[in-house]
Amino acid sequence: MYDLNNKIYVAGHAGLVGSALVRQLTPLGGNVVTKKRSELDLLDADAVSRFFEAERPAVVYLAAAKVGGIHGNSTYPVDFLLGNMKIQNNVIESAWRYGVKKLLFLGSSCIYPKIAPQPIKEEYLLTSSLEPTNEPYAIAKIAGIKLCNAMNRQYGTDFLCVMPSNLYGFNDNYHPENAHALPMLLRRFHEAKENGSNSVVIWGSGTPRREFLFADDLAKACVYLMNNYTSSEVGELINIGTGEDCTIIELAELIREVVGFSGNIEFDRTKPDGTLRKLMDVSRIHSLGWYHKTSLREGLEKIYDDFLNNPALRRS
Ligand SMILES: NC(=O)c1ccc[n+]([C@@H]2O[C@H](COP(=O)([O-])OP(=O)(O)OC[C@H]3O[C@@H](n4cnc5c(N)ncnc54)[C@H](OP(=O)(O)O)[C@@H]3O)[C@@H](O)[C@H]2O)c1
Repeated sequence: MYDLNNKIYVAGHAGLVGSALVRQLTPLGGNVVTKKRSELDLLDADAVSRFFEAERPAVVYLAAAKVGGIHGNSTYPVDFLLGNMKIQNNVIESAWRYGVKKLLFLGSSCIYPKIAPQPIKEEYLLTSSLEPTNEPYAIAKIAGIKLCNAMNRQYGTDFLCVMPSNLYGFNDNYHPENAHALPMLLRRFHEAKENGSNSVVIWGSGTPRREFLFADDLAKACVYLMNNYTSSEVGELINIGTGEDCTIIELAELIREVVGFSGNIEFDRTKPDGTLRKLMDVSRIHSLGWYHKTSLREGLEKIYDDFLNNPALRRS
């Protein structure tokens, strides 16, 4: 286990995952360093290098990225491909150059092939074509995994790569156009209740299955791995998820109950469904002793409370 008196840099501390990491690390007595984007733009290689030279963190959690869905990837493919590669290259290279002892790189389940056997095992990486709608993001994340692994091989670093499933949590993005499916649904059910609407219409048949992990559980898994395992014990990459999925219909029913909306749920079957199932195999992380704690209902109750008590989340 690394010495908690060492400096820990959390890149992307204001985001969904970064803020969960800071919540997890701070009570453990970690000396956590963060920088706002206005103080340190991670796209700027020279600025990143100067920061590492001056601060000399011993441990790095890399949770900064350009994150988004189909709309973002198709409208801003350069930002998703070049932007993410720049951020991760700058941080990973400076971490190596300035002697960081341990780094954790956050990837995503999008790195896996579009058509993969379920549940998805780590070894399915690069076995067939990616989902075209998020290819720029996925290619950047795969390059990040390969760079961490190359650093470990060539320079003996200890850089870990984790692949979380779909995340939700405190401080999430509820933007009506570019939020992920779960916070978007929560917002729409909330607004339907507030406006006295009779129904909420959801795109597709509602039958695709998805897995959702509470971001604070992910943060616990990341810190657990960093504190207890080396990259050679973890392997090239490791999935972090619940190992349980549900249909969009089940998710919508649960959100309706949590929000207290009494109207109907309708499905617009003229709209596309997307991938039918996307469940990660989490047997590797289970074998290392980590299991998620927060059930989907419990997590939804927590974030609805956050949504109601934080007007900034509802503003956009
Ligand atoms: N959300 C999910 O469902 C999910 C699922 C799997 C994996 N992940 C991975 O987890 C990581 C974190 O995702 P997230 O959901 O926490 O994203 P997020 O909420 O959008 O947070 C990203 C953070 O990165 C920062 N950032 C972006 N570009 C930057 C730059 N040029 N300079 C400095 N800071 C910059 C953002 O700063 P600002 O606050 O200034 O914008 C923000 O704090 C990503 O690598 C993502 O791929 C997320």
